[in-house]
This record gives sequence, C-alpha cells and structure tokens, in this order.
Amino acid sequence: MILDRQKRLNTSEIRVRLAADDQVNNLMSMSEDDVDFIADFINQMQVYEGAMYEISTKLEILDSEFQVRFSHNPIHHMERRLKSIDSILGKLDRRELPHTIDAIRNNLFDIAGIRVICNYRDDVYSVANYLSGQSDIQVLRVKDYIKNPKQNGYRSLHVIYSVPVFLSSGAYYTPVEVQFRTIAMDYWASLEHALRYKTDLPDAKLAEHSQTLLDCARSLQNVETQMQTIHRDINGAPHGGEAPTATQDSPIRDK
Ligand code: GTP
Ligand code: MG
Repeated sequence: MILDRQKRLNTSEIRVRLAADDQVNNLMSMSEDDVDFIADFINQMQVYEGAMYEISTKLEILDSEFQVRFSHNPIHHMERRLKSIDSILGKLDRRELPHTIDAIRNNLFDIAGIRVICNYRDDVYSVANYLSGQSDIQVLRVKDYIKNPKQNGYRSLHVIYSVPVFLSSGAYYTPVEVQFRTIAMDYWASLEHALRYKTDLPDAKLAEHSQTLLDCARSLQNVETQMQTIHRDINGAPHGGEAPTATQDSPIRDK
C-alpha cells in the first residue's frame, strides 16, 4: 500500500509564494525571470515525481517477489511525497542559497521522498540491499541510524538514490531520499516529530518527555529484537545482508 502525502503542484501556490518574496511585490507585475522560474520549477518537479514513481514501483515489485518466493511481505506500507515549494524555498534560505533551479538540483536531495515502513529490521536491510543492487540506479549516500542511532533515540536507514527518468529529451538522473524503518521506529519517530514541533510546552516538560522518548526507543529496540528472533525461527534466515554502501564517490556533502 502506498500513501501519497503530497498535494498536487499548483501554479497559483507558487505565484503567491513568490509574491511574498521581497523582490516581487506585485503579483501582476511578475518579471520574466519569475515566470521562467515558475515554468522551470514545474518541469523540474515533474522529473522528481517521475523519479519517486520509479523507485516506489521498484519497491512494490520487490515486495511482491518476496511474497511469491518467501511467503512474506517485507513492506508493511509506503508513504511518498514531494517537498512543498515553501519547504524548498525555506531550506534554500536557511542555507543562504539563491532561489534557482540549479541551486535546488545541486543542493537539495530530498525533494522526492519515500518512507518504507517494514515489518522487521531484517526486512529493512533486505529491501534496501536488493534495491541498492539494481544496475540502473546509484546509491549516492547512506546514513544508517539503525546501527548508529541519533542521540535522541531516532532510528532509520536513510539512502539517497539516483534514478534515471526517461523524458522525451533523454534520461535525467534524479535523486530520491528513501527512509527505511520498522513499524516500531515509525511509531516512535511520529511522536518525537510531534513533540519537536510542539513549541508551547515548558522546557522542563519538554526535557522530561525527551528523556522518556529515549527510554521508549531503547525498549522498542529490545522488543523488536525479541520479535525478530521469533520471526526468524518461523520464516528462516534474513535475505540480503548488511546495510548498503554508496556505489560511487558521493556528490553529497554532509553538513
Ligand atoms: P535535512 O534533510 O536538512 O534535515 O538534512 P539531512 O538530509 O542531512 O538529514 P537526515 O538524513 O539526518 O534526516 C532527514 C530526514 O530524516 C528528516 O527530514 C526527518 O524526516 C528524518 N529525521 C532525521 N532525524 C530525525 C529525528 O531525530 N526525529 C525524527 N522524527 N525524524 C528525523
Ligand atoms: Mg531532509
């Protein structure tokens, strides 16, 4: 099952957002540059959307192959979304980058995003490895927060893939950020995300909840390990092995 978390891209949203910029005070007197930016932006987003569909189709095919070969569906469900124009421009601003298509293409690798929620940790690595091994895509960056959880307890495997999107004018290699995680990791991350954006809590309460969440992350990890052991006894050894590694010198610099 794929849940689409995106709103359809909408030209008036882009116009309104651009009009909010200092450079464009009057919506009706938009410069030619702005009109060009809007057209290029819409074209570029169509390519990101294509890349997102390519990767999610590959994942669906792997999931159904597992069902046929091993009588087990590794993927519980997927969510996919394109980053909104507001988030894109906000991220460019935070990094002090210009509002250009080149700046987006060269610096933002999470415009197309897919979250793959798996049943077990073995499934996370199996699916990520089989996808990473496919000859038509490249692995640009891997961040394994399952092996090395973040200090707050966050766990997930993040992989940025580059996938060719075939348009009438040729093939365009396009990045897609995929977050692989288990149901328990997703359950935890949703609550932690909600806490992070809940700004009206007193600091003491926030600290207390953050500590509790860290304890929960450890408990969930233990429960997951125990359930994984039972699952292995029922379904056999995992398929696919350890976490993937980047297949080329990554053009992506970690901040
Ligand atoms: P940004 O995309 O700018 O955040 O930087 P990055 O690509 O270096 O970050 P990273 O790969 O570590 O994480 C990207 C995404 O993972 C975020 O947008 C979140 O969706 C998710 N994520 C990372 N860390 C956390 C966390 O501590 N808690 C939660 N709930 N989600 C996280
Ligand atoms: Mg991101």
